[in-house]
Amino acid sequence: MTGRRRTAVLISGRGSNMQALVSAAKAPDYPAEIALVVSNRPDAAGLDYARDQGIAAVAVDHKAFSDRVSFEDALDTVLGEHGIDLVACAGFMRILSPAFVEKWLGRLLNIHPSLLPAYRGLNTHERVLGDCASAHGCTVHFMVAELDAGPIIAQSRVPVLEGDSADTLAARVLQAEHETYPQALASVASGEVFLN
Ligand code: GAR
Repeated sequence: MTGRRRTAVLISGRGSNMQALVSAAKAPDYPAEIALVVSNRPDAAGLDYARDQGIAAVAVDHKAFSDRVSFEDALDTVLGEHGIDLVACAGFMRILSPAFVEKWLGRLLNIHPSLLPAYRGLNTHERVLGDCASAHGCTVHFMVAELDAGPIIAQSRVPVLEGDSADTLAARVLQAEHETYPQALASVASGEVFLN
């Protein structure tokens, strides 16, 4: 390993997965350093958390740009200014264009609250309950241009329990996310897992 990989976490809100990554990266032998947190929403709670942790935290407000390309250009500029090498989307609720994804291909990760390829898209917990599925979970994957379709790095399964609501199920999945994402990021940052 040639030093810790400078990683940016992209968020849109609460940022609990970002917090799990920050906390894992405190271990001296963790192969990634969380060097930057970016939110497309200036009021995201996660930005305050990052600043409190002494991490550079920047809002790139998508509403300030007339189109997706100029928003992504600004995002890419911020990543460049901070010497970022890996990007981890964690509850980042903007679709990234094929050009952006192509530029970061193999260095752009996402966490999704389902066992992909099942339940791509939004409202996964509600849909799992609606189908009376017995298992649910989360997936960390490399991002590709197609939404929630990239090669899988890690998955964790949780049971769906009798009486679950979307909220109780989401909380169980989120707990699994907080364990899975730090492991998945470490496996990519160390070079053990890569996009071929
Ligand atoms: C997480 O459950 C994450 O998997 C999901 O948003 C939540 C963000 O929570 N992501 C998506 O739905 C992406 N399509 P957090 O802000 O507390 O990490």
